[in-house]
Amino acid sequence: MEPTMPQIKSFKGYPTLFVDGEPFVILGGEVHNSSASHGGYMDETVWPNLRGLGMNTVVAPVYWECLEPEEGAFDFSLVDSLLMQARREGMKLVLLWFGLWKNAESMYVPGWMKRDKDTYYMSRRYNGEPLKAISPFCQAAVEKDKNAFCRLMAHLKEKDSREHTVIMIQVENEIGLLGSERDYCQAAEELFAGQEPEAFMAWGFARAVEEIASAGKAVYPLPMYVNAWLEQFPWRAGTYPSGGPVMKMADVWKKTAPSIFTQAPDIYVPYVPQVLEEYSRADNPLFVPEVRKDAVTAAYALYAVFGCNAIGFSPFGIEELRMDPDSIDKPPMEVMIALNIDPSAFEIQGSAEYLAAVYDMINRLLPCYYQYRGSAAMQAYIRKDVHELGTVLSFQNYDVQINYSRKGQCQPEPAGVVFQLGADEFLIAGMMSSVQILPKLGSNEQVEKVRLEEGTMENGVWKKKRILNGDEQMMLTLKDMPVMYRMEVCRYR
Ligand code: DGJ
Repeated sequence: MEPTMPQIKSFKGYPTLFVDGEPFVILGGEVHNSSASHGGYMDETVWPNLRGLGMNTVVAPVYWECLEPEEGAFDFSLVDSLLMQARREGMKLVLLWFGLWKNAESMYVPGWMKRDKDTYYMSRRYNGEPLKAISPFCQAAVEKDKNAFCRLMAHLKEKDSREHTVIMIQVENEIGLLGSERDYCQAAEELFAGQEPEAFMAWGFARAVEEIASAGKAVYPLPMYVNAWLEQFPWRAGTYPSGGPVMKMADVWKKTAPSIFTQAPDIYVPYVPQVLEEYSRADNPLFVPEVRKDAVTAAYALYAVFGCNAIGFSPFGIEELRMDPDSIDKPPMEVMIALNIDPSAFEIQGSAEYLAAVYDMINRLLPCYYQYRGSAAMQAYIRKDVHELGTVLSFQNYDVQINYSRKGQCQPEPAGVVFQLGADEFLIAGMMSSVQILPKLGSNEQVEKVRLEEGTMENGVWKKKRILNGDEQMMLTLKDMPVMYRMEVCRYR
């Protein structure tokens, strides 16, 4: 019998990714844009650097310009080499379809399309000047993209419907228009009926994406999502891609593109937790295909999964994490500015060690997570801004006070998760914080530690290491590397 397709389905009330019938959390990383354009480069420079990071999934592009270099002639060799390499490495793949649109441009369309601007026409500004993106109202271009995308999906069906190495597809990349709030080309003008320009563009792009995605899903029904270049200062559509799948446009996107299961944020801003929360909704399961890769990202991975029920997390440019920081070609400042990226997002000092340790911890905690999520017995925390001193989590019969530690350079943010395993028993996992169990206010009770163990989870079972008492027990402090503790307490008067 064919194994079941990767799919998003409700598990205990939460939209969850299932792979081969089991819930699956993507502990991933996205490779740089050009890495997957050469199998040898992937073998020499990328795969060796991914080993040891605790990842289970690589997020990698498939380029239309390589897939259909001549009109109607398809070359699947890069896709096949990715499949083969990922299987060899025991990794799953999320494939990014770099088709008609990538970062509000049409830079990955094949040369034969770039050269024929009459047939495949560009979006235009109000003064008629062409923009860098083919118009979403250019039906001839959408037809060609759809055709190529369907060929890709047919190929995956043929080569991967048993193994399910590929578990999800991103349709296009950071769609929208830069440099204009809307498209003023002739076809757009004929359709525009005076509505809000960004909503019009969201409708235009979502309609094109739906046509492409629904046709692809009819061939091979993998879960499909779109990713968003976030709204940023000065908060005017066109300074970030107008019509892209930002949360503000969720109503339009969800209604117009029902084949897309989620709008995923690409996060390079400093206020990551706020974005994680905004993009995690009952109708929009959180998936983070791109996120900053400095040391703080490890903390965000923890919060994404345990605080926001993410189906996956994937820092960008993952192959660099284990490289010598001085040997890396950072994107030039002009590129950072053009992409509105906070340059510190690309610092890698310490990132590999923290991320590998956090991915390992998330994996070990998944059985507890599936058991307790959605209940008051599981609560995650993260420092959301530099002025926060801590938080107090409320559990049955106890409060848990978390004090946030002062963060040094190249360290993760304070973050963690607390599970109440029994009436008087807690599992505490995290970093950069100290933890105290308190009586409920007004209860007139005292709380005493009965037993404190350091340890880890193995297949859902606690494995203790040292028993901490005496000097080690007075204040439970979680340092920069993620750790787990089990604590038993009692109450008395
Ligand atoms: C966001 C894009 O989606 C990525 O492909 C990449 O261009 C990064 N920005 C910046 O390197």
